[in-house]
Amino acid sequence: MYYEHLLSPGSIGGLYLKNRVVMPAMGVNLANANGEATEVISRYYEERAKGGVGLIITEIARIDEEYGVGTPNQLSVTEGRHIPHLERMISSIQKYGTKVFIQLHHPGRETKSALIGGKQIVAPSEVMCKVTGEMPRALTTEECESLVKKFIKGAVIAKTAGADGVEIHAAHGYLLNQFLSPYTNHRTDKYGGSFHNRIRILSEIITGIKYMCGTHFPVSVRLSADEFVEGGLRLPDSVKIARTLESYGIDALNISSGIYESATTIIEPGSYAQGWKKHLASEIRKNVKIPVIAVNNIKDPETAEALLEEGVCDFVGIGRGHLADPYFVHKASTGRSKEIRKCIGCLNCFAELNQGR
Ligand SMILES: Cc1cc2nc3c(=O)[nH]c(=O)nc-3n(C[C@H](O)[C@H](O)[C@H](O)COP(=O)(O)O)c2cc1C
Repeated sequence: MYYEHLLSPGSIGGLYLKNRVVMPAMGVNLANANGEATEVISRYYEERAKGGVGLIITEIARIDEEYGVGTPNQLSVTEGRHIPHLERMISSIQKYGTKVFIQLHHPGRETKSALIGGKQIVAPSEVMCKVTGEMPRALTTEECESLVKKFIKGAVIAKTAGADGVEIHAAHGYLLNQFLSPYTNHRTDKYGGSFHNRIRILSEIITGIKYMCGTHFPVSVRLSADEFVEGGLRLPDSVKIARTLESYGIDALNISSGIYESATTIIEPGSYAQGWKKHLASEIRKNVKIPVIAVNNIKDPETAEALLEEGVCDFVGIGRGHLADPYFVHKASTGRSKEIRKCIGCLNCFAELNQGR
């Protein structure tokens, strides 16, 4: 079978992508404890680039050393010393014609004090995540302003290291998602309350990145279009967020779903059908003009092709499919689809990550 849509080139902002397959961010814990890209993580990404994917979005890269640690050995974009290591990793991907975005991340309440030297974790408000079970301290207004600068610095470091763009992680219940959602944002200062106040931190980050990195430097924002928790963001709220973010000049939206408290809607077990949440990306795409990337529990190229043909999204995110088989795209494009080793949704990948492995 020839996958006409899947294998056709596309673009994000002015950036050319050789096909419609995106490997979304996946934490793999392969950097070193200082957040530097190791040879192992470079080789891991290089293998996926060799396998033909159009765009790789790296795992969560922390923008804040004090409270922003998500996994013990994650990438970091907080200091100039991270640049040469990142540069080597990025060029090992780009030599195969695959583009790279660095994902900028802060976990907010979805982390553990053990990862930040025993300090109390921070969040927009004192609302405990039922999964991590730790009560966060509410960030001061000054701390929020400082985090804006740290996200912008992270983007500058990524760009200096040669990244083709950045993705701001505002999904999965992490810090920026916590600001967007009335479920977790009960603030009364300029970063809470009204819709515009809840989206303010993201707007300041986007404006700052575009100012420092140039309007042509692509910026994607990842959203959980439905948090799947009582009192959380639902699809109509996310349509409004998506349209507002588009007006700030972002270049793509990456649509996912869920927070830690609804984790099976982020990383689905094998019992979920492929494409079960396609209504989310589909509705967002109808309401914006910028490209939409979407994960949809995709296991095979036929489903990916069908989602693109149906107009659910402009780019398909295939995450675990690339852990199971780095050559997913190469096999699909050379008539060897049946040889693709498929993700079975056992969730062992995420379980391993949670064990710090
Ligand atoms: C091991 C693992 C780590 C992940 N880490 C991240 C991450 O760093 N950032 C992110 O936005 N999503 C992360 N995710 C979610 C994936 O990007 C993706 O949305 C999810 O796996 C569903 O897509 P899939 O069915 O194609 O795998 C992770 C998923 C897995 C399995």
